[in-house]
Amino acid sequence: MTDLDAVVHGANELVVGPAESGRELETVEDGAVAVVDGEIAAVGPTADVTREYPPANADRAIDADGRAVLPGFVDPHTHGLFAGDRSDEFAAKLRGKSYQDILAEGGGILRTVRAVREVDDETLLSNLLGHLDTMLAHGTTTVEVKSGYGLDTETELRMLDVIGRADDRHPVDVVPTFMGAHAVPEGRDADDYVDEVVEEQIPAVESQGVAEFCDVFCEEGVFSVPQSRRVLEAGEAAGLTPKVHAEELAHIGGTQLAAELGAASADHLLHATDEDIDAVVESGVTPVLLPGTAFGLGADYADAEAFLDAGAPLAVATDFNPNCHSHSMGFAMALSCVEMRTTPAEALIAGTRNAALALDREDGRGTLREGAPADILVLDAPTHVHVPYQYGTNVVGRVLADGRVVAE
Ligand code: NIG
Ligand code: FE
Repeated sequence: MTDLDAVVHGANELVVGPAESGRELETVEDGAVAVVDGEIAAVGPTADVTREYPPANADRAIDADGRAVLPGFVDPHTHGLFAGDRSDEFAAKLRGKSYQDILAEGGGILRTVRAVREVDDETLLSNLLGHLDTMLAHGTTTVEVKSGYGLDTETELRMLDVIGRADDRHPVDVVPTFMGAHAVPEGRDADDYVDEVVEEQIPAVESQGVAEFCDVFCEEGVFSVPQSRRVLEAGEAAGLTPKVHAEELAHIGGTQLAAELGAASADHLLHATDEDIDAVVESGVTPVLLPGTAFGLGADYADAEAFLDAGAPLAVATDFNPNCHSHSMGFAMALSCVEMRTTPAEALIAGTRNAALALDREDGRGTLREGAPADILVLDAPTHVHVPYQYGTNVVGRVLADGRVVAE
């Protein structure tokens, strides 16, 4: 006997995943999905799925009763592990202070670094678990979390250890990224710090064995392209796949570097050029746009349409961090639609399947296709359009992770 974990049936609209075009959705009307051993075993019209997998035989049967059923959201860019409170910087930014001004005064990332260094591991863990609870309630079932508020070997390793422990404990799948090159520590020279990242931090991260990706803040006044290249190449040699924070505040060439290194993703891209967009498409780098950050900074948004028109698998993320305190992929998708003019279908694909690509997940994650992990959302709404349409409202009713109900 197979173990029928769950059957969700009677969905008004069941979103299977992106259609062939990559910009539209494949959906089933009056759809159902059956879960065996934590994976999607069948998806299709309710009548067909329930004939083969009777809800009465399932550990859990859910009558979606005219609601929409979607793949769990994948959030491919967060700095979700931190300590301290930077809400006063939000107010300062509203009065005209820039992100760079705040950083130059020892605020911003550097302030969070001081806060993280001061607290113990249990505090860090409980902070992260709390954020994961909120993300899960808002429909996120896979999330990438970066280190980068340690900026020394000991604290970077502590952060990665906590990220790994949170993954073990929490139903959200947590993907760990090492980001020792997130800022230049106070009083340090950038080249000298890059030496430390390359010679000391990356070998230690490799032996610890938690991180999957290596990211760098390639930005004017932070890490230059040659410095970023050094970090990412050393990371790659240690088995960490590159990711790049590129062209967020200025255009300095991080996207071309991502393309050259075959990075999993290039993220932010507010100042990306047409050549950058071509390079991303040709090299198969997933562009990850973070509209919540542009919203909070009052900056111009990235050109989502240009990426989509060029055929890129556009992804969106929350960028959840003390500078962009939004846990909600639904809000990121709403901004994607309203501010970047994507369709609700494009926004949903960006926050599910394409987001999984940005994390090199080729297991069907971000879709409800057969064989994919059974991360499933039942909305309190009839179609996926309600995710961005009801901006500011959480329309996620129930969440299943690996076929088990984990939030309702
Ligand atoms: O992606 N840009 C660098 N890192 C974050 C901000 C982190 C922070 O301000 O604490 C970002 O926006
Ligand atoms: Fe970031």
